[in-house]
Amino acid sequence: MKHFSETKIIFRFFLITALLSSPVAAFDYLQPLPDEIPVPANNPITAAKVELGKILFFDSRLSLDGTLSCNSCHNIMSGGEDGRAFSIGFQGKKTRRSAQSLWNVAFKTVLFWDGHAKSLEAQTIEHILDKTITGYTNESDFVKRIKSIGGYQQAFNNAFKNTFNKPVEINLKLVSQALSSFERTLTTPDSRFDRYIKGEKSLLTEQEKRGMEEFRLKGCIACHFGVNFSGPAPGPALKMGDGFYELFPNNRGSKYDKLYNLLEDKGIYYLTKNPGHEYMWRVPSLRNIALTAPYFHNGSARTLREAILIMGKTQYGHDLSDQQVEDIQAFLMSLTGKTPDITLPRLPVSSGKSVF
Ligand code: HEC
Ligand code: HEC
Repeated sequence: MKHFSETKIIFRFFLITALLSSPVAAFDYLQPLPDEIPVPANNPITAAKVELGKILFFDSRLSLDGTLSCNSCHNIMSGGEDGRAFSIGFQGKKTRRSAQSLWNVAFKTVLFWDGHAKSLEAQTIEHILDKTITGYTNESDFVKRIKSIGGYQQAFNNAFKNTFNKPVEINLKLVSQALSSFERTLTTPDSRFDRYIKGEKSLLTEQEKRGMEEFRLKGCIACHFGVNFSGPAPGPALKMGDGFYELFPNNRGSKYDKLYNLLEDKGIYYLTKNPGHEYMWRVPSLRNIALTAPYFHNGSARTLREAILIMGKTQYGHDLSDQQVEDIQAFLMSLTGKTPDITLPRLPVSSGKSVF
C-alpha cells in the first residue's frame, strides 16, 4: 500500500505549483469525458457480456432474500445511486458508507470511497459477498442461486463461449466480469461543460464561468481535475489499480468536523491501520454531482451548497462567500451529462418452480 503516500506527495507538489498560478495551465486539467472507455485486457467488453451484466444488474434474486438488485441502491434510472446517506441493505441493515453513483464508473482507477478495490471486477466480488449488501457470505451459495434460475446457463454460455462449446461453469468471477462490462457502458457524455471545453463557448453562462474560475482559484482543481474531476485520467499518469487519495478533512478543527461527523470514519486507515493513512479518501468524481445528494462518504451534507462550503473550509481553509458558493454550484451543475436511454431487460425465469 506504499504508493498511497507517494502518489499523494507527488501530485500535491506538482499541482499546487503548476495549477493555481496559471489559468492557461489549469485549462488542460479540465477535460471532456473521452469517447473511449478504459477496458482491462483480462475482461474485454462484448455485447453478449454487457447484455448478461445488465440482466444480472436488475435481478433482485441476486440478493439472498430476493429483495435487492444492484439497481435498488444504484438507480440508473436516475442519478445512479439511492439518494440516501446510508443504504438500506440486506434485511434492513444499514451500510457503513453512502452508495456512490455508477455513472462513469469506468473512469475510476480504484473503487469504494476509500479506494481499496483495485478493479471493478474485484469490487464486484467483494460487494456480492458482503452480508450487509446481498446477504451472501460465500460463493457457493450465491452460485447455487444463479444456477437455480433457468435461463442463466444459456446466457452465460452466450457471453463466455469456450472453444469446445461446452456449457460454461458459472462462478463469481464470470458474474463479476459480466456486471463490470455492463457498468463500464454507463457513461454520461456531452454535459454542457464538456461541450464548452470542446469549443461551444456560448454554452456556459457568465455565472458558470465565474464558478469555474473560483473552482480553480480556491484550489478545488488541485484534487478535482481530469476527465472525471477525480485526479489523473486512467492511463500513463495513473494506472488502473492505482488510486489518487487525499486527506478529508485536510485541515482539522473547523466547526464542520463535529457538525457533519467528519472525524468518525478514518477512511482507508480502517483497513491499513497505518497512521499515515488516517482520513485518506479517494478523490471522488464531481460529474453529475447535482444528481447525487446527499454528499460525502457519510451522506452528511444534504445539499450541494453545504458540500461546497465544507470543502472550501476543510480542504483549504477558505470561508467562501455566498456568491462564491453560488457560482461554484452553478459551475458544478453544468457537469450533468446525457444519460443513455435504458430499457429494463427481461429476466430469466425458472418455469414452474420457485427459486426461494
Ligand atoms: C444495499 C445497497 C446496495 C446494493 C444492493 C448494491 N450496492 Fe453497490 N454500493 C453500495 C454502497 C453503500 C457502496 C459504497 C461502499 C463503500 O464505498 O464503502 C457501494 C459501492 C459500489 C461500487 C463502487 C463505486 C465507486 O465509486 O467506487 C460499485 C461499482 C457498486 N457498488 C456496484 C454494485 C453492483 C454491481 C451491485 C449489484 C451486484 C451493487 N452495487 C449492489 C450499496 C449497494
Ligand atoms: C485536498 C483535496 C481536495 C480539495 C482541494 C477539494 N476536494 Fe472536494 N473532495 C475531496 C475528497 C477526498 C472528497 C471525498 C470526501 C469523503 O470521503 O466524504 C471530496 C468530496 C467532494 C464533494 C462531494 C462528492 C460526493 O460525491 O459526495 C464535493 C461536492 C466536492 N468535493 C467539491 C469540492 C469543491 C467545490 C472544492 C473547492 C472548494 C473541493 N472539493 C476541494 C478532496 C478535495
